[in-house]
Amino acid sequence: MNWRDFWNRENPIYVNERHRVLHYDRIARGIAELIDKPDWSVLDHGSGEALSSDIVARRCALLYLFDAAPNVQGKQRIRFENNERIIVLTNESLDAIPDGSLDMIVANSLLQYLSHAEFETLLDFWRSKLKPEGKLVLADILPPGANPMRDVQALLHFAWQGGFFFAACAGLVATYFSDYRQLRSNLGLTSYAESDLRVLLAAHGFEATRATQNLGHNQSRMMMMARVKG
Ligand SMILES: C[S@@+](CC[C@H](N)C(=O)[O-])C[C@H]1O[C@@H](n2cnc3c(N)ncnc32)[C@H](O)[C@@H]1O
Repeated sequence: MNWRDFWNRENPIYVNERHRVLHYDRIARGIAELIDKPDWSVLDHGSGEALSSDIVARRCALLYLFDAAPNVQGKQRIRFENNERIIVLTNESLDAIPDGSLDMIVANSLLQYLSHAEFETLLDFWRSKLKPEGKLVLADILPPGANPMRDVQALLHFAWQGGFFFAACAGLVATYFSDYRQLRSNLGLTSYAESDLRVLLAAHGFEATRATQNLGHNQSRMMMMARVKG
């Protein structure tokens, strides 16, 4: 099994429904705050189920959702079929987005599941789809040598605030015995140092700065805000 297979199945990442709902709600509110104008076209790349995308769509003209997992695409299509501002993409329709047409692309919690080569290919793809003044937001990036205990602490803090603390404790035990942990140790997760990421982004035509806050609940992860270089 690889990461793509993993994300195409039901997975143990969310400890219960409340966790899933609060997670997507937080991400959607964070993305919505990054939208500067109501006429923007935005792509959420590696969106997951993106349950709260209607919050984002209320702030922009068009929201494209793309996730590589066909099962995730199927669920998104059912959830958002009546929302005229949300377009659920397939691999083919992703490629068909007109060049230079997007104001912002967000990839939250995606980079760690891509090889370096896949990431570099995506950087060129994203640059081609963004408008000249377009914004690229890369969030929840794993820094090298990250201590997994920081992830645990961040989840427990989020769970305490969100009222699912005991479910989170049980979920952590379940994750320990799950194929996520197995896959994480077999396949690994891709991490980036801030300086390396800056150099990589510059090599692909972006100017980047690190944001003070990550989009998600885990502040040991990084968020980079990049602009197409003029
Ligand atoms: C950790 S989840 C993040 C989902 C969402 N962005 C969030 O913040 O909750 C990673 C998602 O990326 C998707 N994914 C993995 N590789 C991808 C790729 N190459 N292109 C698009 N999506 C991908 C997976 O199917 C999965 O749904």
